[in-house]
Amino acid sequence: MTTPWNQRYALRMQGMGSSLIRELLKLTQDPEIISFAGGLPAPEIFPVAAFDESACRVLRTYGSQALQYGMTEGYRPLRQWIVDYMARYGIEANVSNVLITSGSQQALDLIGKVLINPGDLILTEKPTYLGALQAWRAYQADYTCVPIDQDGVQIELLEEALCGGPKFMYILPNFQNPGGVTLSLERRLKLIEIADRYGVPIIEDDPYGELRFEGEHIPPLVVLDAQRHKEKQDCSDSEGFMRGNVIYTSTFSKTLAPGLRLAWIVAPTEVISRCVIAKQGMDLHTSSLIQMIAYDVLRDDFLQDHVRLIRQVYRQRRDVMLEALDKYFPPGTHWTRPQGGLFLWVILPEEIDTLDLMPKAIANKVAYVPGSAFYPDGSGHNTFRLNFSNAHPEDITIGIERLAEVVKNELYEYQEPMAAIA
Ligand SMILES: Cc1ncc(COP(=O)(O)O)c(C=O)c1O
Repeated sequence: MTTPWNQRYALRMQGMGSSLIRELLKLTQDPEIISFAGGLPAPEIFPVAAFDESACRVLRTYGSQALQYGMTEGYRPLRQWIVDYMARYGIEANVSNVLITSGSQQALDLIGKVLINPGDLILTEKPTYLGALQAWRAYQADYTCVPIDQDGVQIELLEEALCGGPKFMYILPNFQNPGGVTLSLERRLKLIEIADRYGVPIIEDDPYGELRFEGEHIPPLVVLDAQRHKEKQDCSDSEGFMRGNVIYTSTFSKTLAPGLRLAWIVAPTEVISRCVIAKQGMDLHTSSLIQMIAYDVLRDDFLQDHVRLIRQVYRQRRDVMLEALDKYFPPGTHWTRPQGGLFLWVILPEEIDTLDLMPKAIANKVAYVPGSAFYPDGSGHNTFRLNFSNAHPEDITIGIERLAEVVKNELYEYQEPMAAIA
């Protein structure tokens, strides 16, 4: 007798069906389509030669260690490198505060596994990172969300949402995915104060912080939170390191390459030990070979120069996209002007549904991600996300012109019957 699989799936799978958006995005694989949909870095500037050299060196020098099982916490020299690197940004941690993960997607999943019970409420920004919503839906989380504007999450609306008693807040302070906006210093300080007052922890997800093209660096929430606790003198664990309200996560996906699947969590040691136990059940540890090769690439100050190059390339692509939007998009449409990162966010007039518009865009050989995917409450029907890091500048201009044509046609279709009624 064959198994009736649909009677065997766990309850948690109920909210995890394939979405219409994912089906539409499959169509964007056509090479003639200029896709602004994926969150892909520019592959032309992946440091292939550096990895080639380091991979050979690691295998020649430490081959059997690199091919052996490793510690769940991660390769110690790489963790120490991360500690030293983060210290430049004011993040005070020690190796025992750092866990290497297989991408920050795994970090989010671990956080879900360690913190979320079925029915727990999670506070997110609106819109927010789709991958976090997906990861935590598996733990049967519910969401309460607070809208963002050009200065990030709207702090004045936060306390009302906190009254629902969320388990934690999920915040993307730098060049937010998908909005492209950055949380101002003033709001960061308020957020830290409110989190402290309500006793609600913050998950700070920061994949893009280093990719700032302009403007001043703003300290991460984990740093501001540590300062606050220091002032209140309740900051240290037994080893003298931070014991605040923030779990911080970042990744090498946007600064080295996403195919490495290499990222990290910084948290108080007690949280790290729980995450270690959870990670053992997932994959035992992140690839020893990849960690050792990445460490070999990173150790001679490679990243600083490489990130400089990435900023230069992405800045140019962002400028080309903004210029094309200014030139081709019709009145009544708006978009964010990110100071870094990979994405910008477009808002169309209310009457347009960007999910309905998507097949028309694909037919016109251009693609985006409809905004509703990033809204835990399914709103945002008139918005979409554009990625500017992956396409070549010439294609960005052509793609935006194509997209503008689709948007104008749609607006025209709506305005025609209105004119007839008038
Ligand atoms: C906000 C955010 N968090 C996490 C991730 C996952 O990154 P990683 O490649 O490290 O798993 C992404 C990827 O785009 C992201 O935008």
